[in-house]
Amino acid sequence: MAPAGQPAARPPFVAANWKMNLLRGQAEAYCGVLRQGALGALHAVEAIVFPPFPLLPIVAAGLAGSGILVGGQDLHPEDSGAHTGDVSGPQLADAGCSWALCGHSERRRDHGESDDLVGRKAAAALRAGLTPMICVGETREERRAGRAFEVLERQLTAALAHLAADRFAVAYEPVWAIGTGETATAETAQEAHRFLRGVLAGTAGRILYGGSVTPENAAGLIAQPDVDGFLVGGASLDPRRFLSIMAVCVG
Ligand code: PGA
Repeated sequence: MAPAGQPAARPPFVAANWKMNLLRGQAEAYCGVLRQGALGALHAVEAIVFPPFPLLPIVAAGLAGSGILVGGQDLHPEDSGAHTGDVSGPQLADAGCSWALCGHSERRRDHGESDDLVGRKAAAALRAGLTPMICVGETREERRAGRAFEVLERQLTAALAHLAADRFAVAYEPVWAIGTGETATAETAQEAHRFLRGVLAGTAGRILYGGSVTPENAAGLIAQPDVDGFLVGGASLDPRRFLSIMAVCVG
């Protein structure tokens, strides 16, 4: 976030990644709590929810007109075709999405997604009118070996090579901090975000931090000059905790 006294170029951005959680009734109730609770915050923070695919229609309807955006957790690099079990960018856009996560570390781990595939997915998102959120992050072993920045640069440069437009966000999610309760310190996050900002070389992409973000640790992280917001997993499953994180970002 920009230092006090200096207006941020854009408001902080807070995203809820539900991963493979929640059912229809829970999603409906969540949207009611979120849209009501966010009313006072949306002048100063942007919010987005990434539900699992089957819940997209419910969430898109539940958040319609609220100003809170909806995104898909993944998409196929092609726009249509014989790809059983996959979902395309045009289908996400048709379901009410304006964003798509690309290359979340759980997709890289569970589905062997390569840096190049992640870039092709980001390009597919842009073609469909969606804004890609490109996820990057090093493993614990890579950090211990002093290779964190090398990995981040490789992942981000590979994705950027596919992007013709300046419309994207980056989520820095150190793998060792995701779902572990071991969040990066504010200093570690800032150092990585500053590095990624350098790799972006002046392009407009915002850089969100993800990895065990909670209402309790969000203030220290968002105070960092290069942390533009959060991608929240576990703590976003309770709309009240997600709202508390939004409130911290409003300040
Ligand atoms: P977490 O997940 O907040 O549960 O660590 C973050 C993410 O993977 O997007």
